[in-house]
Amino acid sequence: MKRTHNCGELTTVNAGETVELTGWVNSRRDLGGLIFIDLRDRKGITQLVINPDEVADAHAQAKPVRDEWVIRVKGTVNARPDDMINSKMATGEIEVLVTEFFIENPSAPIPYNFNDPNTNDDIRQKYRYIEMRRSELGANLILRHKIAITIRNYFNDNDFVEIETPILSKSTPEGARDYLVPSRVWPGQFYALPQAPQQYKQILMVGGIEKYFQIAKCFRDEDLRADRQPEFTQIDVEMSFIDADDIFELIEGLLALIMKEFKGIDIERPFMRMPYTEAMDRFGSDKPDTRFAMELTDLSEILAHSEFKVFQSTIANGGLVKSINFKAGAANFSRKKIDLLTDFVKIFGAKGLAQIKIEEEGPKSPIAKFLSEEELAKIIAANNAEIGDIIFIVADNYDVCNESLGRLRLKLAEESELIPQGIYNFLWVVDFPLLAETDEGWTAMHHPFTSPIAEDIEKMSSDPGAVRAQAYDVILNGVELGGGSIRIHRSELQEKMFETLGIDKDEAHVRFGHILEALSLGAPPHGGIALGFDRMVMLLTGADSIRDVIAFPKTTKAACLMTNSPSDVDDDQLDDLAIMIKPIKS
Ligand code: AMO
Ligand code: AMP
Repeated sequence: MKRTHNCGELTTVNAGETVELTGWVNSRRDLGGLIFIDLRDRKGITQLVINPDEVADAHAQAKPVRDEWVIRVKGTVNARPDDMINSKMATGEIEVLVTEFFIENPSAPIPYNFNDPNTNDDIRQKYRYIEMRRSELGANLILRHKIAITIRNYFNDNDFVEIETPILSKSTPEGARDYLVPSRVWPGQFYALPQAPQQYKQILMVGGIEKYFQIAKCFRDEDLRADRQPEFTQIDVEMSFIDADDIFELIEGLLALIMKEFKGIDIERPFMRMPYTEAMDRFGSDKPDTRFAMELTDLSEILAHSEFKVFQSTIANGGLVKSINFKAGAANFSRKKIDLLTDFVKIFGAKGLAQIKIEEEGPKSPIAKFLSEEELAKIIAANNAEIGDIIFIVADNYDVCNESLGRLRLKLAEESELIPQGIYNFLWVVDFPLLAETDEGWTAMHHPFTSPIAEDIEKMSSDPGAVRAQAYDVILNGVELGGGSIRIHRSELQEKMFETLGIDKDEAHVRFGHILEALSLGAPPHGGIALGFDRMVMLLTGADSIRDVIAFPKTTKAACLMTNSPSDVDDDQLDDLAIMIKPIKS
């Protein structure tokens, strides 16, 4: 090694020792005579002192050095005088008096100001390696690695086998668009990158593997957000001869271990289990953040016969009128602020946002004139509202009403810092509907391999919307950490599922013949789950986005600014693939 120590480990215990250090110049002060350099490597920062009166050669070497130059030094560890001790630095009790100084590599001036918090994020993405060196990104990646090791050991200790599944694979529906890879050998045909190893892991169960896991790369062409990347990593799990409780037990054990090891926190087990309908009723979300209250209140009964047509007709048409009560906040809600919140709920399809301020003089509301005194009193009572509170009301169909109020609840809580920090609320959401209705018919809420609850199977033809799935999501602080299900393991039921989804026999055979056949050749009962590994690390580091825990992430427009991908390819390559680029549809 070119060094004897790293930049994070020297203390007064080492005083008087001769040491060699390497790293990057974090900062440099030239006091005319003395030069001070903060030298950084992966482990920390150590202050170097170069005194021209004692080491003229080293001083001459150090003179031109600037931030981010790579250097190597030899020197003596010196205990700093008491008044020079920097208690904020791990190595703040010492400094290294340099005797020899080598420039390993100068650096061109860094093309952006990394210290300025307003620096454009795109440029930070382009110079990802500089961010990695200078910001918490590097530490996040190291933590990510350690968590991965813990995960692998946990599954190994529990008799699981890690098996890699193909990246060049066949389309498997997980609800997003596929990334396609053209085949040269089979012109005009395509592989799909896996949205998840779903079908492979089920077939591993048919193969008798019984307990599989994989830290697996997945690819989904979907709209990106803070917690979504086009390629991301799952902790993917599948087991045979089990039911949902076995998955809960296994995953709670893993999460408890990770929380203990990386946060020093003992989390309560078993986790709360909340049926999907309760999550929607109370929180307007299938991933409820239970760290704070402000729950939704259903006003439909109170307002079913209201004079206010918007409310009355919404309820008559099978919709809902629901509310949330923002405690002690009425005074902060100006007209303008309320307009902004109204625009916010419109993003989720709401047509309006009514509000009632509870003031000393009585309730004040633009819709008061449409409501009877009794209705107003009941709304206030149902919301436990007191003077100073403000009640927000949305009338709409089930999905829009819940989503818009659920999102408003989160927004108001975040903006007014109502969410307690340092708390980790895990819970299971269970009893999801098997199917969701869209304009094109029924689709699988989780994926088409998810088993219905046995007693609901007979409703698959008569009342598909009422069929519950043996599906579960694990939620942490309002983030969907993972989801899974007990699978269909008999080919007749799988065929019935495809039929319900409007996939006819021929199409089912072309797309899923392999899995239907495998299910008919001795498939054990099985089930599993996948956890979002990036999301887990994001929550453990307190990062705001999964980009902060991924070495080379993509932008929200699915581009890599560092390598400039995606990019054009040569005509020769297209010829090999028999591909012609069409004009873009506008
Ligand atoms: P699901 O689609 O719910 O289930 O995905 C499981 C978990 O993966 C994470 N995740 C993502 N993370 C980052 N970026 C994305 N674009 C992204 N999409 C999903 C989430 C999510 O909870 N095959 C099933 C699992 C199973 O049934 O066993 C599946 O993939 O944390
Ligand atoms: P309008 O009669 O459309 O001007 O609406 C009167 C009030 O009712 C306004 O405060 C609207 O924001 C509110 N409002 C309208 N539609 C809805 C709705 N679907 N849900 C909740 N409030 C609504």
